[in-house]
Amino acid sequence: MSSFDVPLFLQQLRHAGCSLGEPLTYLQQTDSTNTQAKVAARAGGAHGSCFVADEQTAGRGRQGRHWHSDPAENLLFSILLKPTLPPQKLSPLTLVVGLGVRDALSRHTHAKLELKWPNDIVVGSPDLAGKSIKPKLAGILTESELTSDAAAGHPAVIVGVGINVLTRRFPDELRDIATSLKMLRKADAHEVSREELLVDLLRSIEGALARYEEHGLREIVPELIQHDALKGRQVRVDGKLGTAQGIDDQGQLLLKVDGQLEAIHSGTVEWS
Ligand code: BTN
Repeated sequence: MSSFDVPLFLQQLRHAGCSLGEPLTYLQQTDSTNTQAKVAARAGGAHGSCFVADEQTAGRGRQGRHWHSDPAENLLFSILLKPTLPPQKLSPLTLVVGLGVRDALSRHTHAKLELKWPNDIVVGSPDLAGKSIKPKLAGILTESELTSDAAAGHPAVIVGVGINVLTRRFPDELRDIATSLKMLRKADAHEVSREELLVDLLRSIEGALARYEEHGLREIVPELIQHDALKGRQVRVDGKLGTAQGIDDQGQLLLKVDGQLEAIHSGTVEWS
């Protein structure tokens, strides 16, 4: 894949009238775009600033996991957000952004994309129904950072998104659990443009955030439920075995454990 075309991206972004994505920092190689966005947040960086990299040497996922991506195959970016939301309304942001990412990616594949609570975009195509694992297409890592201008108590929120775009072959340990847009498309489908895809993602994330800021989570929850990858599946959440029963109006995962319904605020879900 060729280098990210910054002028082309900016032209398309401005044409779309999107408020996220500028200023843009494009890095051929960096440690982690989330780390770069955090540094910018501490230095007073603007809401909407975006960091894109072709390659990360220390890309990370949730729970300190390593995020694998071969150079220049995928879309790796972080957005610096300064939402004017009270602190208790920040934790659902991963779900809100996840919905925006799912919707945008759905316009680039015929596969049925679903949200695996709380931060993964997975493929739930009917032909995969017999398998217990729905392969992962994208992941989101949300981190908050206190900034010098956080006088009103609003921390900056860094939203990092990793999307498998052109990967054709994953390392052995990911082969059965990951997929890419390229692998999901028909062989003759036109190549995905990372610039166009990023503009689409930013617009979709911007829209989801605006809806959340204006109407709260109740506006978003019906769509989270509609695209829930876990509903009815047996899963393990931080070691606890149960059956996923949906998502409640606070964005918590509902898990039935030994006949009792539990609402899980945060955790890592494994297919079982
Ligand atoms: C996960 O699945 O646990 C979240 C993965 C998030 C990966 C992205 S890639 C761009 C940004 N920079 C990082 O270091 N992580 C996020």
